[in-house]
Amino acid sequence: MRMLILLITMFLGLGGAGAPGAGAPTSSDEARAPRCVLVTGANRGLGLEFARQYRAAGWNVIGTTRKPAAADELRATGAEVMQLDVTDAESIAKLARELAGRPIDLLINNAGVGSRTPTIEGLDAKSAERVLAVNLLGPMRVTSALLPNVRAGAGKQIVAISSGLGSIADNTSGRWYGYRESKAGLNMFMRSLAAELRGEGFVCVVLSPGWVRTDMGGPEAPLSPKQSITGMRRVIDGLDAEKSGHFYGHDGAEIPW
Ligand SMILES: NC(=O)c1ccc[n+]([C@@H]2O[C@H](COP(=O)([O-])OP(=O)(O)OC[C@H]3O[C@@H](n4cnc5c(N)ncnc54)[C@H](OP(=O)(O)O)[C@@H]3O)[C@@H](O)[C@H]2O)c1
Repeated sequence: MRMLILLITMFLGLGGAGAPGAGAPTSSDEARAPRCVLVTGANRGLGLEFARQYRAAGWNVIGTTRKPAAADELRATGAEVMQLDVTDAESIAKLARELAGRPIDLLINNAGVGSRTPTIEGLDAKSAERVLAVNLLGPMRVTSALLPNVRAGAGKQIVAISSGLGSIADNTSGRWYGYRESKAGLNMFMRSLAAELRGEGFVCVVLSPGWVRTDMGGPEAPLSPKQSITGMRRVIDGLDAEKSGHFYGHDGAEIPW
């Protein structure tokens, strides 16, 4: 009789060691499971603030940096720190090997560098090549390598941090050679990605953070990292299939390509 009562209790999930409610994950456990975000270039600037805010919101954060030994601020957020140079094929392959089988709900391609070529007469082709390698080819290579992880995640969101300077339609002032082209190319990549992966339920968008006080943005920028990231997280939270393949500002306003 006692065995019969125990079996009924276990079947109904009413507790007791070994009952479904005690150990095995249920659908409500899954709904509560922390989501996982991977942020590139997370040791400083906008990437570090993404790591801080997603950790504070209870997410598992994988923050990548070129130099993990020097990433104390990132580690202090509670993020898992992993090495990644987005221009280095072996570094990308190693990250993909180490993350094999781990679902990622949200991939944020954030790492980027500025341009040192303000006018065409002063073109520094080496610097422009470097900017294209980091800002354009970097996110392409990282996305390709980590696609199985994002495919295995429930979120299936891929975000690229671009710039208003990458908008062709909004470009009336020119200059910023190398940087503008890298971000316009990144935008095209994300538009292609959204089209290719739409059928699988992926949402791929480009975000502009605004002009922000980081090492890249400088001290004169009007936005703090906190303001920019709070805005971009709100935009990411509100993403759906309709919004995939579009370009948004940190305030949620759509930016013309
Ligand atoms: N701040 C702005 O006003 C602004 C405006 C528009 C767009 N954005 C974009 O926002 C993103 C973040 O910018 P930010 O302002 O935070 O710049 P930041 O403070 O200069 O930080 C850039 C980050 O990218 C990383 N990085 C650079 N080259 C890398 C490489 N080869 N591999 C991996 N990581 C690399 C840096 O790592 P290290 O520390 O190792 O160098 C750093 O973590 C960039 O894509 C940028 O273009 C910024």
